[in-house]
Amino acid sequence: MALWDGRFSGDTDALVARFSESISFDRRLYRQDIQGSTAHVRMLARCGIIPPADADAIVAELARLQQDIEGGKVEFEERLEDIHMNLESRLIERLGDSGARVHTARSRNDQVGTDVRLYLREEIDAIRRLLQALQASLVGLADAHRDVILPGFTHLQHAQPVLLAHHLLAYVEMLARDDERLVDARRRVNRLPLGAGALAGTTLPIDRHSVAAELGFEETLRNSMDAVSDRDFMVELLAALSLIMTHLSRLSEDLILWSSQEFAFIELDDAFCTGSSLMPQKKNPDIAELTRGKTGRVYGALVTLLTVMKGLPLGYNRDLQEDKEPVFDAIDTVKAALAVYAPMIAGARVNGARMAAAAADPALMATDLAEQLVRLGVPFRDAHRQVGRFVAYCRDRGIGLDEADLAAMRTCIPQATEDCLTLFDARRSVMARDSYGGTAPRRVAEQLDFWRARLERHE
Ligand code: ARG
Repeated sequence: MALWDGRFSGDTDALVARFSESISFDRRLYRQDIQGSTAHVRMLARCGIIPPADADAIVAELARLQQDIEGGKVEFEERLEDIHMNLESRLIERLGDSGARVHTARSRNDQVGTDVRLYLREEIDAIRRLLQALQASLVGLADAHRDVILPGFTHLQHAQPVLLAHHLLAYVEMLARDDERLVDARRRVNRLPLGAGALAGTTLPIDRHSVAAELGFEETLRNSMDAVSDRDFMVELLAALSLIMTHLSRLSEDLILWSSQEFAFIELDDAFCTGSSLMPQKKNPDIAELTRGKTGRVYGALVTLLTVMKGLPLGYNRDLQEDKEPVFDAIDTVKAALAVYAPMIAGARVNGARMAAAAADPALMATDLAEQLVRLGVPFRDAHRQVGRFVAYCRDRGIGLDEADLAAMRTCIPQATEDCLTLFDARRSVMARDSYGGTAPRRVAEQLDFWRARLERHE
């Protein structure tokens, strides 16, 4: 028999029970459900709505129930639909009338919102710790290879030389913004819906603010209809998780390219790669590939929830039950990727010699030449055109930019000086990019100092 059997004359069809259950996935909210119920019944007693002895009995039984669940002694039942009714039924079974008081002045609509918000709050904190661990790995790798220079790419074509540390710290910046987004999303997660009832509040004299304080919520949601209908806090979180995956996916792509035979810039540790069942020579960067691939799941979760929400009339609708699986999956996916990424980055071997050899391409210094001409008073647009002609001149003759003498250079660049011939050196080029945010070692050292201090403070 269901908890709502008063109005119903027949049992739920088995197919319907299977179709509509959520216990198979919302069971993971058992701890939060117990936490919420505990605070709720304490408040009911404080406000004189239920006898204190009943509240005490419920609180004690909920604690036992939690132990029993964690000890594997509780079988959840599909016919009881969700975690809320599974736990309430258990309580009534064990306590009788006292248990029958737990659901006073609340509905599953405000209850599920409370559970999910408690859960997300914890998960956000866990994801933030994982993000910071990955940032620390990236900073560590950057620090250990402060002098390594590689070609910077645009359009995946040689652009200008950069320090490897500079490249890696770009990801640290992205992850820091991801962390900011989580902190910001958490503010809107951390508001209490409980006590909103089914949609309109309750006739009983409850005190929602004290429940909020007990559960550590920063605010109590002001409007009961909004409280039971809102899922935008989840959409925001999924957007933040999607961006984390975007960043991990781009980092993955760099690692996949860099560990290819063509680049051979890095080698990932054997522990983070797999072989081929057929080709004996293979060592594949599967972790990076899977992370790139799993990004789609997290985007999918975001689009799923947005789609669930868009046509709903105000108030709780059962559609909202579809919020949980995508959110859980996205959280599990992001946590798993971050957890495996931090040690993978920490254990990556850098082939500095390969990177330096690639960065020695004198064409990478073409911009340095144009900027040298600017220093000699040539307008940049003219300098750009002259250097472009010089690049074509060298290409036509099959020589590198560094192989032309001054007379040859002057056929394209009339104002060229001896100094211009000394520019084709990647280290010199990197040293010279000393503008704020640039790749010069001094600037990169500033970034490293900043991140080391910041990560130590665990902000
Ligand atoms: N299992 C439901 C969910 O996940 C709980 C709320 C059900 N509310 C209702 N009125 N049927 O959303």
